[in-house]
Amino acid sequence: MNINFASYLPEEQKMKQRIFALAPIFSILLPSPLAAQSADPSIGRHLAEKQCSVCHKIGASAPGDKTPVAPSFTDISRMPSANELSLKVFLRSSHPKMPNIILSPEEIDSVASFIVGLKEKK
Ligand code: HEC
Repeated sequence: MNINFASYLPEEQKMKQRIFALAPIFSILLPSPLAAQSADPSIGRHLAEKQCSVCHKIGASAPGDKTPVAPSFTDISRMPSANELSLKVFLRSSHPKMPNIILSPEEIDSVASFIVGLKEKK
């Protein structure tokens, strides 16, 4: 006698089985939102402290205002033209008054998100 046990399962349980069967496929197809997010403002802050604070005041309580040769990052974040994209573009190109600091694309994203984040802190 050929008993199909699956047909005895309640409908709901069958549905769950199907979802679990598909889960590994989805996890391969869809990149994890966490993994895709490479911009980390806390890394950006750390980079800014090391690389930018010589010239820029990088935060309210951060060192760097001894030599105010450059606008503070808080002021930059409040400029109407400053957004994550314009900062990334700025940091990928070279500038006469700024040394060409070599940052990886991930580092640029993090520094940009750090600067943009300063805007909200009053
Ligand atoms: C050697 C000094 C120096 C260092 C180091 C430096 N900057 Fe600057 N930066 C300047 C000066 C000077 C200006 C103003 C440029 C101007 O007025 O044309 C400036 C301007 C800027 C601006 C504003 C651009 C605008 O549209 O007005 C941004 C954004 C910026 N810097 C980001 C950074 C970041 C991020 C770092 C670190 C990765 C950094 N800078 C490191 C000197 C520096």
